Amino acid sequence: MRRPILAANWKMQMGVAEAIAYADRFLGLIAEPTAVDVILAPPATALDALGQRLAQSPVALAAQNVHPAAGGAFTGELSAGMLSEVGCRYAIVGHSERRTLLGETSEFVGAKARALLEAGITPIVCCGETDDERESGRTFDVISEQLEISLGEIPADRGADLVVAYEPIWAIGTGKTATPETAQEVHAMIRERLRDRFGDAAAEIRIQYGGSVKPDNVAALMSQTDIDGALVGGASLDPESFAEIVRLSVIPTGDPQ
Ligand code: PGA
Repeated sequence: MRRPILAANWKMQMGVAEAIAYADRFLGLIAEPTAVDVILAPPATALDALGQRLAQSPVALAAQNVHPAAGGAFTGELSAGMLSEVGCRYAIVGHSERRTLLGETSEFVGAKARALLEAGITPIVCCGETDDERESGRTFDVISEQLEISLGEIPADRGADLVVAYEPIWAIGTGKTATPETAQEVHAMIRERLRDRFGDAAAEIRIQYGGSVKPDNVAALMSQTDIDGALVGGASLDPESFAEIVRLSVIPTGDPQ
């Protein structure tokens, strides 16, 4: 059975003081030890301080990005080793905002994922289709190609060390969530692609759904066979709301795996 995994993606929001105040409140709200893996991904400026605040807690720290190189002349970038030094156990790569706004390719995402694994950090590899791609019936093709390339550099025996996030772009920050059935259909397809690539380890890989996840819809999404967690943007900015999402995600509303 796959352990649920819930991640808060704060994007470019929350200064250091706000991040610490959030952690103080949030840690008081979640049950300990939690039956799920819970992750906070603050902006880079808050990683160090938040990492120290979370150090003795059941909540893990994640970065929102990484550069694939180990070091060198890459102005403004951070390496996987640097993220590890401040306590990151996860890092998000290939988020659609970086793919579309910053032109990141699946090849670059793949190099990042490999660098993270080499540094002992779990990559959360994002994929997802646009509205147009869905409307023209290309969802499966687009996601298959994103995954094939973004996971292309992952050694065949490291599949179980990955997390994949399916985030339909039309659902991110729009209030439009994929229905649990629509999301499950894509998650099942993703697991098949992971099986092609990593064999039996695919059954262990956790696949998060992301895109307007809220306390109201998380239980229905989590009840689906191949939905193992959520990557939450807007609704994670309030500690009460994210704690509620965490709490509701562990209610067994479907058949256990
Ligand atoms: P949202 O963002 O929950 O605000 O839709 C999700 C994400 O982009 O990771």
